[in-house]
Amino acid sequence: MAGSTDSKGLLDVGERLDPEELRALQLERLRASLRHAYQNVPFYRESFDKAGLHPDDCRSLADLARFPFTVKADLRENYPYGMFAVPQERIRRIHASSGTTGRPTVVGYTENDLSMWADMVARSIRAAGGRPGDKVHIAYGYGLFTGGLGAHYGAERLGCTVIPASGGMTARQVQLIQDLKPEIIMVTPSYMLTLLDEFERQGVDPRGTSLRVGVFGAEPWTEEMRREIEERLAIDAVDIYGLSEVIGPGVAQECVETKDGLHIWEDHFYPEVVDPFTGEVLPDGEEGELVFTSLTKEAMPVIRYRTRDLTRLLPGTARSFRRMEKITGRSDDMVILRGVNLFPTQIEEIVLRTPGVAPHFQLRLTREGRLDALTVRAEARSGATPEAREAAARAITAGIKDGIGVSVTVEIVEPESLERSVGKLKRIVDLRPRA
Ligand code: DLL
Repeated sequence: MAGSTDSKGLLDVGERLDPEELRALQLERLRASLRHAYQNVPFYRESFDKAGLHPDDCRSLADLARFPFTVKADLRENYPYGMFAVPQERIRRIHASSGTTGRPTVVGYTENDLSMWADMVARSIRAAGGRPGDKVHIAYGYGLFTGGLGAHYGAERLGCTVIPASGGMTARQVQLIQDLKPEIIMVTPSYMLTLLDEFERQGVDPRGTSLRVGVFGAEPWTEEMRREIEERLAIDAVDIYGLSEVIGPGVAQECVETKDGLHIWEDHFYPEVVDPFTGEVLPDGEEGELVFTSLTKEAMPVIRYRTRDLTRLLPGTARSFRRMEKITGRSDDMVILRGVNLFPTQIEEIVLRTPGVAPHFQLRLTREGRLDALTVRAEARSGATPEAREAAARAITAGIKDGIGVSVTVEIVEPESLERSVGKLKRIVDLRPRA
């Protein structure tokens, strides 16, 4: 089973399937998952019935496209336990999304689900360059968020020593890293920046730590951010992706040897990319919204769950599984400014390559008359002269105008004046009056 490593190589059984074996396994698991959802979750029975479909109508992987989508609102409407497919006594764990808008989304796991999840995170950490015996500092939040506990059990499953730091108490995190000497850190990229600033505040050179690899995810981040973190910390920085509705972290992982996008663990999570407006399935290589169908989950199977994350599917490289391109953004993070679509990651690229500013910025949306306006507030690096700050403001304004095609206001603010992340960072502050 997945998770058991081959003594000849490090890949587990699932990772060594050839493409034909993988497709056969996916189809068998897909049909079982559709049946499981249909038989045990009234929501899926109704939605399949309404579409005039029965799980047996799925005879090929392409047939999945005929089945209806599931969206976050469906999970909310069935809050808290309506999407569960097993009796409560088989549920071993509950997690929930933060629920910034309305009710949180509750997800559940059976014993087998928890074990599969640990296998997938173990596989992810190994792909990131982690090995049994490594010490893993986990600064994803523990609790209802899937980051902390998800990383925790995966690292243990791989045979690592876990340091369950959780998020917050930044000064102590820096102390722990110096004293306990972990080789791996798992944290959101924005909180990594907060930690880096704290190293510098304490007068400690972050390049001198024991850390070798950082496994960063839970929010979008760019190649520019990778360069910034790799340089300041002298580590390999790789991307981990996941979402609670599908399992948590460990749905897809970038391999350290290629750093070319994230291999999707397709033997358990079947991906599709669809046109976000029409819902039509797009061929591999085209950008659209990522959709997942769980292939082996027991407690809460998801069928064609729309993630809102935008990416494209690419052929495998370091693994035979397909890759997804680093996420450019979520459709609900997209700002439409005077007709131009803009993602915070595009601003990140520009800010991070501008001299004189720190990698901390915030996007403020306001309304002036009937027009939306965007102000980019970026922090000056300490010691940046007034001239350097002005030059930075001009460079960012021009970079956004030329690169994205929209005029924005840029304010360079004092060092250390913007709020720091302790977990997932909220880049956009929306001050527009509610309609
Ligand atoms: O953020 C799970 C996770 C924890 C992933 C730790 C990686 C590391 P949720 O809170 O349900 O779950 O949020 C899921 O976060 O749909 C994406 O929009 C975003 N996201 C997660 N990983 C990445 C990533 C966890 N590597 C939502 N790049 C997803 C870009 C990411 N966005």
